[in-house]
Amino acid sequence: MGLFHLTAPEEPITQATPRPGITDLGPGYLDAELLATELLREACLEALETWGPSAMAYGANAGPPPLRRFLAAKASTAGGTACTSANVLVTGGTSTMLSELAARLAGEGTVLLTEALTYDLGRAIFAELGVRVVAVPGLPDLDPDELRRTAVRTARSSGKPPALYVAPTFHNPTGRVLSLDRRRAMLAVAEQTGMRVIEDQAYADLDYGDEIVPPPLTALADDPDSVVGLYSFSKSLAPGIRVGWLIGSEKRVSRLETGAERRSGGGPSHFAALAVAAACTSGSFDAHLVELRRQLRLRRDAALSPLLGALPPGFSVRVPTGGYFVWVDIPAAVDDRAVLREAEARGMSCALGRRFGADARGLRLCFAGHPPAALAAAAERFVAACRAAAR
Ligand SMILES: Cc1ncc(COP(=O)(O)O)c(C=O)c1O
Repeated sequence: MGLFHLTAPEEPITQATPRPGITDLGPGYLDAELLATELLREACLEALETWGPSAMAYGANAGPPPLRRFLAAKASTAGGTACTSANVLVTGGTSTMLSELAARLAGEGTVLLTEALTYDLGRAIFAELGVRVVAVPGLPDLDPDELRRTAVRTARSSGKPPALYVAPTFHNPTGRVLSLDRRRAMLAVAEQTGMRVIEDQAYADLDYGDEIVPPPLTALADDPDSVVGLYSFSKSLAPGIRVGWLIGSEKRVSRLETGAERRSGGGPSHFAALAVAAACTSGSFDAHLVELRRQLRLRRDAALSPLLGALPPGFSVRVPTGGYFVWVDIPAAVDDRAVLREAEARGMSCALGRRFGADARGLRLCFAGHPPAALAAAAERFVAACRAAAR
């Protein structure tokens, strides 16, 4: 036996550690059953067979050409406007790209505006790298008038137009889809104030088909240089694969691909990106998405049905039409921490709304991480917790 062992049970290799006795709807993770493990095993083999040692070399700086072509065609379909490979940069996932963009904003001294409710770790990436982050008042949707006022105010105080980070589609934490009118109004403000937009589309592929989702901001903007869209395979295939992509103008993509980091290390996650390319070009990714959307819809319904009509007065549920999350608004008089305490005492957990925005009054339930029966049981416990906290 060798001196070193590959696995030891006391050494977790994943970020998540299950909490005994708790059905935890807090983290935004995909159930192990839904991760594309087998698909990726085959795709890794296919990548090795197709590209051999080139799969082990530093990769093309902008990412593998077959993957960029596939993603350009996908973006053309979603946006209704032609996109080519030159508009696509393969990334090492959204967090990595946010970090790169944050470093650039910090270097320029650009202030970042966010929605009042926003992905907490997205905001943290910018803040940690020294970007001043300002939340635009207004819940639940970004209000264009407030956005304009905040953009003008920050431009005046910082001496340059701010940037905006926004997740218009299947928002984390609320699941909301921003309407076409709001998208247009937001872009009009961006154009008038010189504000650049970072569009986080991490959940965009997880559309249950219940409503018509408007085109992404990258497709709606008059000035293609003003918006970049960030996408991820984390929420659809597996977060461990660390592959995502950026959609932007040729100029933005070319500037990002020629940075020293890529010239040194090549495209990020090169082998993983080739495996994803194999899955995309063979059709197995699209087939997987169809089934994943069906599974997530089932889970949404399992988590939702015990809540509907059963929550105490003043509580309300937003029904998501895609993504991972159900958001529950709670009355001002009820403390979200009291709901969480009552929930954990009953063997379920969820995420406090205050994580996502200082003024948030609500709780986020992730329904992607458990099978339907466990979700239904957890949702019943959640209802009991809300009733207890509201008393
Ligand atoms: C809105 C949003 N963006 C980005 C991410 C992270 O994406 P990635 O795994 O590609 O870094 C998440 C994950 O929770 C998310 O919710």
